[in-house]
Amino acid sequence: MNKCSGREYHEETKHSWASVRENPNRLDWSEQPRSMKIYPKNFRRTKLKSSHPLHSFIYHIGGITAKKVYPGAEYYLRTNPSAGALYPNEIYFQSRGVEGLEDGIYHFEVATSSAVLLKPISSDEGLEPCLNERRAMRGVLFFISSPWYRSAWKYKKRAFRYCLLDTGHILGAIEAASYLYNHAYRIVYDIDLERLNSFFGFEKDEFFLASAIAAVPIAGSEAVVPDGCIARADPVGVASCVPEIERVYLETSGLYGCKKEPRFPKLSFNKGVWEETILKRRSVRAFGSRPISRRDFETLQDILNMPIPSDCDEPLRIYAVVNRVEGMVPGIYMDGRLLKEGDFSAMAGYLCLEQGLGSDSAVTYFLLSRGCNYRPMYIKAGILGHRLYLGSGYLGFGCSGIGAYYDDETASFLESDEMVLYALAVGYDKEAER
Ligand SMILES: Cc1cc2nc3c(=O)[nH]c(=O)nc-3n(C[C@H](O)[C@H](O)[C@H](O)COP(=O)(O)O)c2cc1C
Repeated sequence: MNKCSGREYHEETKHSWASVRENPNRLDWSEQPRSMKIYPKNFRRTKLKSSHPLHSFIYHIGGITAKKVYPGAEYYLRTNPSAGALYPNEIYFQSRGVEGLEDGIYHFEVATSSAVLLKPISSDEGLEPCLNERRAMRGVLFFISSPWYRSAWKYKKRAFRYCLLDTGHILGAIEAASYLYNHAYRIVYDIDLERLNSFFGFEKDEFFLASAIAAVPIAGSEAVVPDGCIARADPVGVASCVPEIERVYLETSGLYGCKKEPRFPKLSFNKGVWEETILKRRSVRAFGSRPISRRDFETLQDILNMPIPSDCDEPLRIYAVVNRVEGMVPGIYMDGRLLKEGDFSAMAGYLCLEQGLGSDSAVTYFLLSRGCNYRPMYIKAGILGHRLYLGSGYLGFGCSGIGAYYDDETASFLESDEMVLYALAVGYDKEAER
């Protein structure tokens, strides 16, 4: 029996030239959900300090790095990008045996850059069993949730895709920060989601999507999930109901025939420059005309090809529409191999819902898959997207994620019958060329 998940949802949430025009997004800004979750004052807070290794690890994953002010509105940008800057994710973590932080379960409160202690844990209590780990682990366990309505408010039922991509960007940020922190990490999708959601007091407006382990088991130990639960805090501040998202979450909670990826990526960057890249990361808003070098293109390819350690690895196919790369003929490439020669820049822009980002880039990437497990598959596209962001930034140019594209037209342009998961464009920023 085929138990592949998410197929119907994916089909139902495709963009086409007609669908975008028939269902334009009209937004009532007074109804916008809150983009930051705040627990009540009675929970104890620890302000994150840059001098503390774990504090700065947490900050690098999703901390605020810029503020934008518009007439009547201001919003904050973070180390992680997010579709529409809506940030439909929250980061929780369990810390055990880490100097300077009481053992416990925490929420990363982005608004105040603090770790909020939700529940202290004793040496034999912990959330390890929710990740199929019997022993207590020393280090940090991350749990990434999604208050999905922050995104669904704007993107309606397609928002689940963006929640998954944004989760992938956060896991990509964990990968990048764990390199600075000198700790291996691995991603876990096989989670006891029901138990975890209920332990955190979540109702239908927030659910867990993925977790990551940057910790090692303690020999001879055993952990049990603490009794009771954590008091509920409203993550969005408005009522929400999108049945398609509730349905696809349940459908994608189970996993089927997962293949494990045990290998770790071998990142080798100058750590000072890498940290600066993480802290300065922004999405390019318009590309200039300067091409990138072939060497940089190949470096990005190498970064994309590195393994992502996880318990459910779905294969993705990465198509690169090369528009402006020195020493390379324009065309569609896969793994550095030319599939079709030609100037497809206008076409790439059209496919990205007529966004100039797709046509003016040095390279526009399209990530496709026919993976069976929709949740890990889509999240992986976000992780690879984050690698493209940071890889480009490290090499001196930039990137933008593109979640809006014409699904079927993109697949047929690439002569593929796979699902199109994400598009990203890289190149030199027009601003920087002035
Ligand atoms: C999944 C995803 C999809 C995105 N899609 C688009 C897009 O279609 N068009 C666009 O201009 N920017 C897109 N962006 C970029 C966001 O608008 C940007 O990340 C957000 O405004 C925050 O700004 P920052 O990345 O500079 O911090 C996307 C980002 C992500 C993570």
